Amino acid sequence: MSQALTPSDTCVLVTGGAGFIGSHTVVELLTGGYQVVVVDNLSNASAKVEDRIKTIVGSEAAANLTFYIADVNDRNALNKIFDQHHIDRVIHFAGYKAVGESVSKPIEYYSNNIGNTLTLVDVMRNHDCKSIIFSSSATVYGDPESLPLTEVSAKKPATNPYGWTKWMIEEILSDLHAADPEWNVVLLRYFNPIGAHASGLMGEDPKGIPNNLLPYVAQTAIGKREVVHVFGNDYPTPDGTGVRDYIHVVDLATGHAAALQWMNGRTGVEIFNLGTGRGTSVFEIIHAFSEACGHEVPYVIDPRRPGDVAENYADCSKAHELMGWQAQFDISDMCRDAWNWQSHNPNGYEG
Ligand code: UFG
Repeated sequence: MSQALTPSDTCVLVTGGAGFIGSHTVVELLTGGYQVVVVDNLSNASAKVEDRIKTIVGSEAAANLTFYIADVNDRNALNKIFDQHHIDRVIHFAGYKAVGESVSKPIEYYSNNIGNTLTLVDVMRNHDCKSIIFSSSATVYGDPESLPLTEVSAKKPATNPYGWTKWMIEEILSDLHAADPEWNVVLLRYFNPIGAHASGLMGEDPKGIPNNLLPYVAQTAIGKREVVHVFGNDYPTPDGTGVRDYIHVVDLATGHAAALQWMNGRTGVEIFNLGTGRGTSVFEIIHAFSEACGHEVPYVIDPRRPGDVAENYADCSKAHELMGWQAQFDISDMCRDAWNWQSHNPNGYEG
C-alpha cells in the first residue's frame, strides 16, 4: 500500500535524472524538500549536471541528493541502491528517445527501454516499493481523430520502435497493477518539452544533429547550423506547418512534483496529459525564437518528414482538476529560456 508521506520523509529514485526532463524534475523535487536518489548511466547526459543541480538548489537541499552513475538494467547495481536507500517512489525517465534512430536500432531500443523497465519494477517489487511515475509520450495517440487529445482518446499503433516502447511500457505497468492492486502507477504523457532552466545552467544538450525542432532552431540562431529545415508547409493547418503543444520543461517538472503529491497514499493506474492545451506551428516557433534572440532565424522549406502528424495538442483539464497542476509559461518564455541556455552554453554542457 502506498503510504501517505511528507516530502522530507519521501525518498524518490529518479532514473535518467541527469537528462533534460529528469534534471529539471530533480531540481523541483529538491526544492520541494524531497530526498532524491538519481541513477543515470550518462549515455546521453553530462556528468556536469549534478553540480549544476546543486548550484541551483543551494547547499541545504543539495545535501538531500545522491547521484549514482549506473545502468538501470544493471540488476546488481540497482539492488545495491535499493538496499542502501529506503526508496518510496520511483520516477522513471531513463530510456533512449530518438525516433529516427529507433527505426534503425530496434533491438537496442526494445532491449534498453523495455528491458530496463522490467529490471526496475522487479527490483522495486523485491524491495516492496510499488509506486512509479512513468515518462510516457503523446506519441501513443498517433495521428489524432479529433483534438484536443484527452486521456481517453484512443491509443493508436505506433509508427516507430521508440513509440512502441512507450506504448508497451504503459501496458506493462498497467498489467502490474492488474496483477497486484498494491501498485500505484502514474503515466504522464508529455507533449513537446522545450525551454530550459531560467538560470541558464541547465537545458537540452542533444548529441550530434538535433532531431527536434527547438534545439535545431537554437543551434541555427547561434550559428552552429546554417538554416532550419521546415518539414512541410502543406499540412492542413493555418500556415501549412506542423502544429504541436510545446511545454516548458520547468512546467513539466512541476507536473511530476504534482503527480508525486497526488499519488501519495493511493493505489491504481492513472494517466495525465502534460501540455499547455495550445498548439503552435513551426513558423510561429521560428518567429518567436527570432524575437527572443534578436535576429531572424533563417529557414528553408523541405518535404514532410515521414511519420509526422499535422497537428496535436492536449486537453490538460484532468491534471488541473485532480492534481491542481497547470502550465505557467508561454512560447515566448520557452524561447527566451532556451536562448539564454544556448547563448551561455553554445556547446551545451561542454562549454
Ligand atoms: N520540425 C521541423 N524541422 C526540424 C524538426 C522538426 O520542421 O528540424 C517540425 C516537425 O515536422 C513537427 C515539429 O517541428 O511538425 C515538431 O517536431 P519535433 O521533432 O520537435 O517533435 P515531434 O512532435 O515530432 O516529437 C516529439 C518528441 C517525441 C514524441 C512526440 C510525441 O520528440 O519524442 O513528440 O508526439 F514521441
